[in-house]
This record gives sequence, structure tokens and C-alpha cells, in this order.
Amino acid sequence: MESYALDADYALLQDQKDVLRDFRDKFYIPKQSNGQDTHYFTGNSLGAQPKDVVPYVMKELETWKYLGVEGHHQNGSPWILYQQLLTDKAADLIGGKPTEVVFMNSLTVNLHLMLVSFYRPTATRYKILINANLFPSDYYALCSVVKFHGLDPAKAIVVLPASNKGIVPAEEIDTILHNEGASIALVMMEAINYYSGQAFDIAHITKMAHQQGCVVGFDLAHAMGNRELTLHEDQVDFAVWCSYKYLNGGPGTIGGCFVHQKHHKDDLPRLAGWWGHELQTRFMNNLEFKPIEGAEGWQLSNPSILSLACLRASLDIFQQAGMKRLREKSIRLTGYLEFLVNAVDHPNLSVITPQQASERGCQLTLLVKHQAGDLLERLKCAGFICDLRPPNRLRIAPVPLYNTFSDVYELYRFLKQEADK
Ligand SMILES: Cc1ncc(COP(=O)(O)O)c(C=O)c1O
Repeated sequence: MESYALDADYALLQDQKDVLRDFRDKFYIPKQSNGQDTHYFTGNSLGAQPKDVVPYVMKELETWKYLGVEGHHQNGSPWILYQQLLTDKAADLIGGKPTEVVFMNSLTVNLHLMLVSFYRPTATRYKILINANLFPSDYYALCSVVKFHGLDPAKAIVVLPASNKGIVPAEEIDTILHNEGASIALVMMEAINYYSGQAFDIAHITKMAHQQGCVVGFDLAHAMGNRELTLHEDQVDFAVWCSYKYLNGGPGTIGGCFVHQKHHKDDLPRLAGWWGHELQTRFMNNLEFKPIEGAEGWQLSNPSILSLACLRASLDIFQQAGMKRLREKSIRLTGYLEFLVNAVDHPNLSVITPQQASERGCQLTLLVKHQAGDLLERLKCAGFICDLRPPNRLRIAPVPLYNTFSDVYELYRFLKQEADK
């Protein structure tokens, strides 16, 4: 168990001792109207901008300006292979092989593409098991695909029961898989739930689900760049993510997809496009589709180089910092936040995210009993950027790349003043 202290000096000392403290300088921290840095706690929604984004993007704009179409084949970083400048680093983050990773589209689109290949309902095995409070876009996608197969979402989609705080007890997953596993075609869960901040045990769930013959997919929107992942070893079948949260790729930037190596030679049905066709014959007038062996074989279109350039700047930072060190700091930073929120003992606030580090990432979700919107507004006026998920879930995410122990301490001071009012 970590031990923390309540005084401001403690926070300053932790920041001085922090081996990752210099990484904050690699980001633009959003400003308050008085020009001071905000206490930016919404990297779980939109990560801060890496300072290298501008030079990385400028380089590609210059290439376009001076070389035009030749940019696809220029020396150095030809656009045609630009994707590969990112896949090694993403593979490290995901715990996979570079051939298992591709950046393309956005999360919901990628989920649809994966469902075409991996949701293959039969008369007896057609259900999809999801976590409670699944992100609505995923739910819409799943319902629409179930309907597309002529099935009824009310019967086909099984939601894991959760406590009144929205936390899914681990044993519920085992029980449902045990009782209904034979009728479950797909287990599709968020690795970390956007609402409660609860992290699920990917390795265990995948193992249990595979024992029942189910396919397993994860939404990593809140997990990529937030917790350590070992998707290859865990035998997860597929995963999808967006890159604008902890990956700091910028608003609406390109998403990603993981397809486990064991499926690379499978003759799965898939939606096809020219960019998924093998490179050697991609540009020939060839009507026989030959997918690239690996996750890149699921690409439809050529990716936005400007989006990839933004993301590349951030993935370089992740490579320098290392996910292991980031996670170590994150566990302490979030533990410190939890310690301080509990110390305030604010009658209106309670933490609902599980306490164990293995059951959460950096986000804490607080239940606000009354007037959550007003509290959010006061936080904003005081320079704290958090967010609210209706009706009353306040999400606070101290991100180890750029948040400090002092950020967290200042939040404590604010909440204490509120409680003492
Ligand atoms: C958990 C989760 N899933 C899916 C999405 C949807 O992402 P996209 O707009 O890239 O499809 C989000 C977006 O915030 C999300 O948080």
C-alpha cells in the first residue's frame, strides 16, 4: 500500500523526485483565460498537444507543397509506408506484434469492420456479452449489426450486471460465461469503462470466454496509453481504439485496430478496400483482392498522413517515457488523488472507481450527489478541467505524462474550500 501525506510540501517533493517530470514540457498545457496553465484532468477525453505535433505536421505539409504526389515515394518517410513509422511503437503499447496493429478510420468504424469478420452468429450461438454502461457508440454499433443479421438486440445482447455504482463484480463475468457461454458468439467489452473507470481483467476474461468457444474483442479507448497491455499473450481476438485520449493524437485523429496473429491466415469475411490489398500489386489494374497478411489487411482507404503525423509525435514520447514507468507514476498519482478526495470527506462527493490499481487506470469517477453541473462550472472557473457524464459522474484523470502531484494537491485545496463553505 502506498502512503501519502496531506501537506503541500509533500506534493512538491513528489514532483521533484518524479523521474518523468520533464515530459510535461513536451506538451502544451491548455491555458486559463488569465494565461496560466489549467489543471488539465481530461486526458481521458482529449489528450494535450505534444509540442512536436507542429514540426511533424509542417514537414508533411512542406512535402505536399514541394513534392506533391511524389510525397508518396519520397526518401525518409514516404506516405505509402508512413503507417509503419507508428506500428512498432503502438505494438509496444498494446503488447502485440507490429503486424497485429494498424491505424485506420475511427473507433466505431473499426468496430464495425471487426464485427463483419468476428461476429458470426448461428442459430444457437448468437449472443454478444457486454459490460454495463458500455459506451453508447459501441452499443449502437452492436445493436445495428445484430439487426443487420436479422436478430433482435433485446435477445442477442446480454449486459453484465453491475452494482448501483456501475461496477461489474468480476465473478459475474465467470458466472454468465459459465451459464450462457454456449450461446455467446462474442464477448465485447471496454478494457476500461469510460463511465466508472473500472478496468477489466483482459487475460482472465479472454481465457474464460475462449473456454466456452466465444470470440473476444476489446474497446481500448480508455486503455491505450493508460494501462499496460499484453494483448498478444492474452490471446485477445481483436481490439479497437481511438487515439485522441491518452494517446494525444488530436481531436478526431485516426483510430486503431488489433487483430491477433492467429487470425492472419484465416479466411474470414471482411469488407475490403484497396489499401488492404498487398502493396506489391496494389496499384496494378488487378480485380482480385489479396489482403495484406496482418491487421493492415483490414484497411479500406489510404490514411490521413496529417493525422498520423500528429500521432507520431505523441508515440515518440511514449517510447521515450516507457509504459512501465508511466504506469508506475500513474498508480501513485491516482492513489494520491483518491487519498486526498477521501481526506476532504466532502458530503457531496464519493469515489466509485474500484480501489485496486489492477481494477482501474488513471481516471477516478466521483459520484456527485447534488448539482453536479454547478460544481463542474466552479471547477472550471478555478482552472480545473474535469468532465461530467450525466447525470452525476465527475471524471478526473491525472495523466502521468503531464499532470503533477501539485495539480492534484491544488484540486484537494479547492475541494476542501468547497466542503468548508
Ligand atoms: C469508450 C469509447 N468507445 C468509443 C468511442 C467512439 O469513438 P469514435 O468517435 O472514434 O468512433 C469513444 C469516444 O470517446 C469512447 O470513449
